[in-house]
Amino acid sequence: MTHSIKINKVAQSRVSQVELNNNIVMGTQFTDHMFVCDYQNGEWTNARIEPLALIPTHPAAMALHYGQAIFEGMKATLGKDGTPLLFRPYENAKRLNHSADRMGMPSFPEDLFVEALKQFTALEKDWIPTQPGSALYLRPFMYADEPFIGMRAATSFKFIVMASPAGPFFSRKIKLYAEKKYVRAVNGGTGEAKAAGNYAAAIRPTEYAKAKGYDQVLWLDAQNFEEIQEVGTMNIFFKIGGKFVTPDLSGSILAGITRMSVIDLLRDKGYEVTERPITITEIREVSEDGTLEEAFGVGTAVGIAMIEEIGNADLTIKLPEDNPVSVMVNDTLNGIKIQEIEDTFGWLVE
Ligand code: COI
Repeated sequence: MTHSIKINKVAQSRVSQVELNNNIVMGTQFTDHMFVCDYQNGEWTNARIEPLALIPTHPAAMALHYGQAIFEGMKATLGKDGTPLLFRPYENAKRLNHSADRMGMPSFPEDLFVEALKQFTALEKDWIPTQPGSALYLRPFMYADEPFIGMRAATSFKFIVMASPAGPFFSRKIKLYAEKKYVRAVNGGTGEAKAAGNYAAAIRPTEYAKAKGYDQVLWLDAQNFEEIQEVGTMNIFFKIGGKFVTPDLSGSILAGITRMSVIDLLRDKGYEVTERPITITEIREVSEDGTLEEAFGVGTAVGIAMIEEIGNADLTIKLPEDNPVSVMVNDTLNGIKIQEIEDTFGWLVE
């Protein structure tokens, strides 16, 4: 299917006013344009790229009250010859629709999703930073804009893509607070969806963890506070006795695209990777017997975040100082994204 996308360009780009390659902080500057598409009368219409602007919103817009709002996170980089590249955009298209299904929202055509991202990224090419470890962060999202008071699925929605240049993330190792009061997700809940409300529910516990001197929350299961789910807004990996483990997608964990890429990459490098339940007790035990070698969080925004400690009032697990495989994974993913390392997986889309 071909889709026509109307394009209305800004008269003058703002890109020259922005210091793109000086550790620009993700989410603080936005590119010139946005892609917008409306869902009305059961179909997506009026796909367009237009100057970034405020979006008029009725105070009864259902997303504001009942939280029908989902999003994606993606990164665009420049290849060796300056071609803008997307990283596995079809996976984001699929995941958006998985989230939409869970939240009672309409699916968005996957080919239009990728076509919109391609055209939008090509138009915003000059906004892609080139400092090592940086990228243009793309934020596709969908929300219910129908004005209605009452509890049912909305009938009108907007799908928007905007973008923000993102400098390299802080490479300091992080300390995780093993949270035993608040939970992120339960089986049957919305943890598998990239729903705005999941992030809202994490804000206060994260503030509490930071006040205690930690960087992020380590989310545990709701029944026993034992099984490890995610860290902050990332998936988590452990290297134990030379092999990798990561929590299986049990129904309460977001299927991260960086997560699936890291699994493929580690296997390609000859490591065994198992997706299975992992408890905090197991991690304490392997730390005590000396077989816990590395731990890191993975996500689109941050990339790879090395972990130095996991703890709470009753527990302190220290990770070894050296994390050579975590560094290799980080460097390989970054290298593939700028075509310094060959993309043997076929992840990049021009
Ligand atoms: C991402 O890693 O892309 C995320 O969605 C995290 C976000 C809350 C910044």
